Amino acid sequence: MDTGMRPRRLRMDGRTRELVRETRIGKSSLIYPIFVEEGKGIVTEISAMPGQKRYSPDTLAYGLEEAAKAGITSILLFGIPQHKDECGSQAYDENGIVQQALRAAKKDFPELYYVGDVCMCEYTSHGHCGIIKGDSVDNDKTLPLLAKTALSQVMAGADMVAPSDMMDGRVRAIRQELDAAGYEDIPIMSYAAKYASAFYGPFREAAGSDGFKGNRKTYQMDFHNRKEAMKEVYLDLDEGADIIMVKPALSYLDIIREVSDRIAVPTAAYSVSGEYSMIKAAAHAGMVDEDAIVAETAVSIYRAGADILITYFAKEIARMIGEGRIG
Ligand code: PBG
Repeated sequence: MDTGMRPRRLRMDGRTRELVRETRIGKSSLIYPIFVEEGKGIVTEISAMPGQKRYSPDTLAYGLEEAAKAGITSILLFGIPQHKDECGSQAYDENGIVQQALRAAKKDFPELYYVGDVCMCEYTSHGHCGIIKGDSVDNDKTLPLLAKTALSQVMAGADMVAPSDMMDGRVRAIRQELDAAGYEDIPIMSYAAKYASAFYGPFREAAGSDGFKGNRKTYQMDFHNRKEAMKEVYLDLDEGADIIMVKPALSYLDIIREVSDRIAVPTAAYSVSGEYSMIKAAAHAGMVDEDAIVAETAVSIYRAGADILITYFAKEIARMIGEGRIG
């Protein structure tokens, strides 16, 4: 031992380890997704995602209060309408569920920041993320509906919109629609590199699209591909995306790293329902320590280059940041 280099020196006690952490996380970089269902008096546990609930617009304040108390500042809203149809008309109805929820939320918790998820799949009777022609999703017929959805969410109070449909050209269509209506200051967070993933399984129950048959492989990306993610990212930047998202997170840390290395806008990562439910199930079975696993996985996503983390564990992560355990 004559090199003088002793890496262990900086690991010898907790204060030193905290001092030299390379990855710093702030609560304000967390986004907490919440499901709102059309109706009244609803507070329903989502069985596929233990600990997560669906609210109606009149009970949403409970969920928002819990989040705000935990130190969460940003919320992503998903809607579950009472009526679905072929063209997902409740997605862009000014009295649609997300629009109702946004108006209620803005009134009760105006200090929170609201992101609207823009997609058709929760609103269409067939469950696809766009309009169906023959046996496939018609890209260009879907674009104006996505743009209308984004605009109606912004008019109801959304601070940001996040298109998750994976149609080509939707960021430009939404940007043009918002600009034409005078909302040029509303940012777009694009689900740019969104993979066709089995990790979305529990979400489909949560969002009421569990009757969906088939798959989304003609619009979401093939998980074999890495360069294709960069193609999607560059196209979305060119169309005007302000923030780029990679989704899911844990199996795609390489993509998060590559995106954040190569682009000059913030990189968001979405740790999706399956990632949440797997940890919950393993912890429930006594196989892993939930907090420890949540801490390690969350930090790994930031370490890979994420600036923003969308996660159902947002409240728990915020608590652990507060305790100095991570971040
Ligand atoms: C809608 C959408 C999905 C998710 C977010 N937006 C489902 C899907 O594409 O099938 C998944 C989120 C999660 O699993 O937590 N397009």
